[in-house]
Amino acid sequence: MDIIIAIILCIILITFLHLKKRIPFSAPGPTPLPIIGNLHLIDKGKPQYALHNLYLKYGNIYSLWMGSVYAVVLSETDIIQDALVNHSDVFSDRYITPLSAIVGQLKDLGFSNGDTWSMCRAIWASAFTRSKVLQMEKTLTNNIIKCLDVIEKESESGEPVNIRYYVKKIAFNAVFQLLLSNEAPYELGKSNDLDDLIHATDEVAKWMSHGNPGDFIPLLKPFSNVKIICILNFKKLNLLISTPIQFTNLQNAIDCVNRHLNKYIQEHKDTIDPNNPRNFMDNFILEVENHKEGILDDVCILKNSSDFIIAGTDTTASTIDWSIVFLANYPEYQEMIHKEITIFENGNNEFNFTNMRTSLHITQNFIKEVWRLRPIVPLSLPHRTSKEIVFHDYFIPKDTLIFTNFFSASLNEKIWKDPYVFNPMRYSNKVEASQPTLVFGFGPRKCVGNNLAEVNILLAIAHIVKRFKIERVSDEMIDENVQIGLTMDTLPYKVIVTKR
Ligand code: HEM
Repeated sequence: MDIIIAIILCIILITFLHLKKRIPFSAPGPTPLPIIGNLHLIDKGKPQYALHNLYLKYGNIYSLWMGSVYAVVLSETDIIQDALVNHSDVFSDRYITPLSAIVGQLKDLGFSNGDTWSMCRAIWASAFTRSKVLQMEKTLTNNIIKCLDVIEKESESGEPVNIRYYVKKIAFNAVFQLLLSNEAPYELGKSNDLDDLIHATDEVAKWMSHGNPGDFIPLLKPFSNVKIICILNFKKLNLLISTPIQFTNLQNAIDCVNRHLNKYIQEHKDTIDPNNPRNFMDNFILEVENHKEGILDDVCILKNSSDFIIAGTDTTASTIDWSIVFLANYPEYQEMIHKEITIFENGNNEFNFTNMRTSLHITQNFIKEVWRLRPIVPLSLPHRTSKEIVFHDYFIPKDTLIFTNFFSASLNEKIWKDPYVFNPMRYSNKVEASQPTLVFGFGPRKCVGNNLAEVNILLAIAHIVKRFKIERVSDEMIDENVQIGLTMDTLPYKVIVTKR
């Protein structure tokens, strides 16, 4: 027993001395503690707020220790762009944690690097060019209209509606249509086996968006098996809100997603026409069949299909969800959007989105402002330096974990007047209007689904406001606070939906 205690004390001492020996010319940052580094500072349940406070204290480039992992946080737009665009050769790799390696098996686009990433990225990028996405307008519109028909029916009673449920279906069906030419029913309670898949992808996404101390603390590394990490749960850090029982849920969720997608992959392989690919899955299967270098394989088809659903559903759904909250809380902007949209209607009460898209300035600025105040993935996905670099006078070693902090960048008082105020009109100001949209990131690793997300979200908001008036259930504003977690989700709410 004494020997075990002595070994543990030695490990603590070595870790402490290692962390004390700060990297020369490193970016400023808080003093780390043994073993956990600065993880104790990120204990608010909303890490973006904790990192924002550190930005206010240490500036636009600062460092911290996530356990034994050295991390640098970039917190202003120009610095983030400089790293991801001008120094993309150093900053483009993904930081892959043990958990993301288990989920993606290093075969998906989101959590791979090197040849696997570049080959997957080429396949995705060719599916999501602006012109291809615009050709999807009809499919996306049909999905939205079907969903609004169901909302209309439910709202006829005058009872408040839980719109998040429907918004999630709009986002899910958009990616599901494009991936598999299939869709889930919109009606509440009308379940089929896809509910299972939706629930499972939710569970995996939830895990991916919670940090995991076992990924960062060396003492836990020997147990780098998710099951054990969960048992050694550091609940107080709020980085892992999980229990062994929930781990069973994660494993079941991964199995469930795999089961569903493997079934679809087999069906697609059995019926594929190489001259007439029907959807993204067909395209991916054909690419793998024609691939000679031995890098892409069946696991890639499975894991990229799963990325398609996980990365594309909640992000889009959260944006529409926040938009509904802001439409209800700020009816003056809702009316301005309605007025702008109706100008483009033709005699049949329909509009041609492709023609009018670029003219919807108020609607576009409204969505931009939603993204500024609620950047859906506020710390983006983690990057890693692939070699050492001196960046803005600071030395950053190879393999440093890089956070690009969209949350702080969106609240930078040097750029944004009254940054905490929701004000879509701010974009008539030259400085604010010239700011790039942050939520999708920049450079080679920029969100590959951004064209699809932008078009689908604009279409959804335009159709919702065209058809319905969205109102609060009382005079009280809907709570605009965010749920605990690494993504920015709304708190539960309902709205009154009335047909215009
Ligand atoms: C509002 C909606 C969305 C937001 C806010 C969003 C945001 C992001 C962000 C911040 C990243 C990381 C960028 C970086 O590493 O620097 C990302 C990556 C990614 N996104 Fe999105 N995304 C959205 C919609 C979508 C959609 C619709 C899809 C696909 C159907 C998608 C697929 C992906 C994939 C596969 C990656 C990984 C790209 C790579 O590592 O090369 N996203 N997204």
